[in-house]
Amino acid sequence: MNKVVFCQASTDLIRPDNPCLDYYRQMYPKNDGYHMGEHFMEVPTWIAVISGMLPDEHYEKSLHVITDVQETIKYFHEQDEMTIVMFSVLEVNKRIVQEVIKDIPQAVMCGGYVHPDEVSDYAIWCDEVTDLIKYLPHVQVDAPPNYNLFKGWMKSIPRITLSEGCLHNCAFCTISRELHEYTYDQVYAQAMSFQGLEFELVYVNDKTYGQANNNLWLNSLFSVIREYNPAFQGFIVQTTVPMASMMLEAWIDMEVIRYIEVGVEVVDTEYLKRMRKPYNLKQLDKLMNKIRRYDIGFIPNIIFGLPDHDYKSTLHWLWWNADQISFINPYVLCQYEESKGQMFEGGGVNDTNENVVDKSWLSAEDINRTDYAMKQAFYMTGGE
Ligand SMILES: C[S@@+](CC[C@H](N)C(=O)[O-])C[C@H]1O[C@@H](n2cnc3c(N)ncnc32)[C@H](O)[C@@H]1O
Ligand code: SF4
Repeated sequence: MNKVVFCQASTDLIRPDNPCLDYYRQMYPKNDGYHMGEHFMEVPTWIAVISGMLPDEHYEKSLHVITDVQETIKYFHEQDEMTIVMFSVLEVNKRIVQEVIKDIPQAVMCGGYVHPDEVSDYAIWCDEVTDLIKYLPHVQVDAPPNYNLFKGWMKSIPRITLSEGCLHNCAFCTISRELHEYTYDQVYAQAMSFQGLEFELVYVNDKTYGQANNNLWLNSLFSVIREYNPAFQGFIVQTTVPMASMMLEAWIDMEVIRYIEVGVEVVDTEYLKRMRKPYNLKQLDKLMNKIRRYDIGFIPNIIFGLPDHDYKSTLHWLWWNADQISFINPYVLCQYEESKGQMFEGGGVNDTNENVVDKSWLSAEDINRTDYAMKQAFYMTGGE
């Protein structure tokens, strides 16, 4: 039997003192169906995907949560050296992964969203999960995800993907502009793979829900999931302001969408243009007037960390619409090599770190204003 350990760093270790995490911890319990796990904000989908590709009859699989790097290194020194240890490496956890992998005796495999050089001295790098087939036996690339490692101990919001990509071109965004739709069999298999997990909501991973032709499958997927999980309430979708505005009535009629997340980002015409956001403030007003009429959760994404900006118009908008807002998704602007456009001169060490406000394009005054605006936004939308 081959042994694989999936390693995931606890959110508290990745984001120590991050005010957004505190805010989410306050807001999730106030919103029906949302659950914040002890270690993760959501079930790590990459583990379920790879776990599905490694058949149970050939692989003994386990999960290790990193809460303390030295404890983790000690743990692996006590484990079978023939075990394979896997990580998903992101900008925000790469230092933790680097520290662990240089000191453990097992073979390490990594994938994720950093440059492979960040870990390649100590690990095999996979560009895609399907690369596993090059290194491991019995890999089934088309198998559905397997959530067994998360069943029975954590409440969650699993993710379902109907399509990948987004047709828009926002400057900060890294999502491919090619829209790829999944087949019904692929989506159905994902819906069935959640069976046994404890959840009330499912997050639709499509980047702009409504663009793909298969978006109406949510109707039948709702019935599929409800059949085995009577506690299931419905879906959370993310989309753009104009798409939400255009489709809202139709989505309300479907009766399976409980929350809508939209990229409001900043309520400022000039910055929306610089971001190449595909909406204007009139469309946002129209959407809010519609949202007001229906019983549906509304979650605007807000991007902080813009220079020479006081966020007054955004804070005013949040304050004015607070009764319609379930909570906000706060982001700090990051600029990646793969971003579709460059908004500012970059190159700072923190420019790709979503947990750090101190970006190369922000002055000391901008950073103070960002901290203040974030606190105000949290407070206006129900945080402390
Ligand atoms: C994938 S988008 C989905 C929303 C929808 N497509 C829209 O743009 O209206 C999710 C959110 O991630 C945030 N985001 C994406 N890239 C970012 C970046 N480079 N820096 C900060 N926030 C980012 C934005 O707030 C964006 O609305
Ligand atoms: S931010 Fe949203 S709308 Fe803009 S390109 Fe990315 S996914 Fe598409």
